[in-house]
Amino acid sequence: MYSVIVNKYGDPDVLKYEKTNSEKIEDKSVKIKVHSCGVNFADILTIKGRYQERPRPPFSPGLEISGEIIGLGKSVSEHKIGDSVMSIMKYGGYKSEIVVPSENTYKIPSNMPLIIAAGFPVTYGTAYSALVTCAKVKKGETCLILGATGGVGVAAVEIAKALDSKVIACGGSNSKLQSCISKGADYVINYKEKILRNELAKLKIKEIDVVIDMIGGQYTLDAVKSLKWNGRFIVVGFASGNIPNIPANRLLLKNACAIGLYWGELAYREPKTIKKDFLKLEELYKKKLIKPMNHKIFKLENASEALKYLLERKNIGKIVLRVN
Ligand SMILES: NC(=O)c1ccc[n+]([C@@H]2O[C@H](COP(=O)([O-])OP(=O)(O)OC[C@H]3O[C@@H](n4cnc5c(N)ncnc54)[C@H](OP(=O)(O)O)[C@@H]3O)[C@@H](O)[C@H]2O)c1
Repeated sequence: MYSVIVNKYGDPDVLKYEKTNSEKIEDKSVKIKVHSCGVNFADILTIKGRYQERPRPPFSPGLEISGEIIGLGKSVSEHKIGDSVMSIMKYGGYKSEIVVPSENTYKIPSNMPLIIAAGFPVTYGTAYSALVTCAKVKKGETCLILGATGGVGVAAVEIAKALDSKVIACGGSNSKLQSCISKGADYVINYKEKILRNELAKLKIKEIDVVIDMIGGQYTLDAVKSLKWNGRFIVVGFASGNIPNIPANRLLLKNACAIGLYWGELAYREPKTIKKDFLKLEELYKKKLIKPMNHKIFKLENASEALKYLLERKNIGKIVLRVN
């Protein structure tokens, strides 16, 4: 088998593609021949040693994979050899073969190709938890998505639209925002060029029910000011590199709440909840209300190129690594 390895923390260039030994199967684990691996912003931070999860080198990055089960632990009954599955892990996904807990391994939604399933769990799982579990978004409510052009953002646009909310997609590039319109966004705002609150005023949108924030920094502070009475602000990430201090008075004045979401940890603590969420997402997929797609596919051995592409903000939505 082959693995992409971090021998010391640093930029994507530190990654090495090496032949490694096959891992032993634990009782409650499955062994998977990996077809493809999803690439996530968090991988860049993990490689730098600057993510919540801080494995010591040597390790492999990677939070999600798709593939075929080739081995079963003694206590596994819910999967069988040959099943096509997708799986999530705290790190270690950039491999051609992997051993993962059975409870973090899920059936692939019917008719979803393996190459799409590799990039599905983290982005769609996170966006679904943010909108449904945390924000409890209702039909007709207004959702503002900060970082709508990224992997989680595009998924959030689609899911919010599938739930019949009014979607305002915010990002830093006009061409990328056009893709958000094709994904169903009602309005787009380029927050790099325009001031968020001025643009909302021009659109005659006075207040926002739900904010899903992947960006942080000044964008968060601007969006908090626009919350409606009983508004919900969901903190998902800080792609701007700036962790904001949300002013408590703004929440108090609107009877609003700010909720943090750490989906990767939630998925490990509550795998049954996540399984239910994936079944709900499968329903949306079958009805073609969500249409996950990959923006670009790289080979596993070119993982550093893929991460540099993400770092340069060239992606619209998801990037995956294909093993062969
Ligand atoms: N809490 C959780 O459980 C969880 C789960 C998944 C992801 N996340 C976090 O969510 C964030 C987005 O993840 P992703 O996978 O969607 O990443 P991604 O695909 O790389 O997208 C990043 C998004 O951030 C924007 N962006 C990048 N750098 C920026 C900057 N310096 N200033 C402003 N905007 C910037 C990009 O938009 P433009 O280029 O259009 O500006 C893009 O919309 C990351 O911080 C990630 O760690 C958190």
